Amino acid sequence: MDEGGALAPVPVSASRTVRSELVFPNDANPAGNIFGGRVLMLMDVVGAIAARRHSRRQVVTAEIDSVDFLRPIRVGECIELVAEVSAVGRTCMEVEVRAYVEDLAVRQPCWDPAHFDASQP
Ligand SMILES: CC(C)(COP(=O)(O)OP(=O)(O)OC[C@H]1O[C@@H](n2cnc3c(N)ncnc32)[C@H](O)[C@@H]1OP(=O)(O)O)[C@@H](O)C(=O)NCCC(=O)NCCS
Repeated sequence: MDEGGALAPVPVSASRTVRSELVFPNDANPAGNIFGGRVLMLMDVVGAIAARRHSRRQVVTAEIDSVDFLRPIRVGECIELVAEVSAVGRTCMEVEVRAYVEDLAVRQPCWDPAHFDASQP
């Protein structure tokens, strides 16, 4: 913070958070596809880490944009989540979370970017 009280700018790269997980049978439905709720949980966690890296404050999730599940993720595949703070307000932040599925031979996006709004509690 400078003498006028303005916060120092933080580059998007400072909040970048990446998490990779193998999909195990207990993450999946009987058809062998990962549960959507499990994916949302992983996206929420990486989004929260990115928001805390940006702000260095405690955060809560206030809102999640709609999420489109474009293709299934199968047991044995790898899911990778990439989160970055994409916009800031006065006390709130918008975090973009991208999800990819990888069979460890090919890596593809599996959802449209979702936006998480995290506000200080
Ligand atoms: C999020 C929460 C702290 C906002 O409280 P509030 O009294 O509405 O706070 P304010 O009105 O002061 O808003 C604070 C900021 O958050 C933003 N905000 C509040 N609700 C929002 C929403 N639903 N979506 C997007 N932004 C939101 C406001 O625009 C404001 O931004 P700004 O300071 O940059 O202008 C409160 O609703 C809360 O605690 N919710 C529960 C969060 C939680 O438990 N999440 C876990 C998952 S259930």
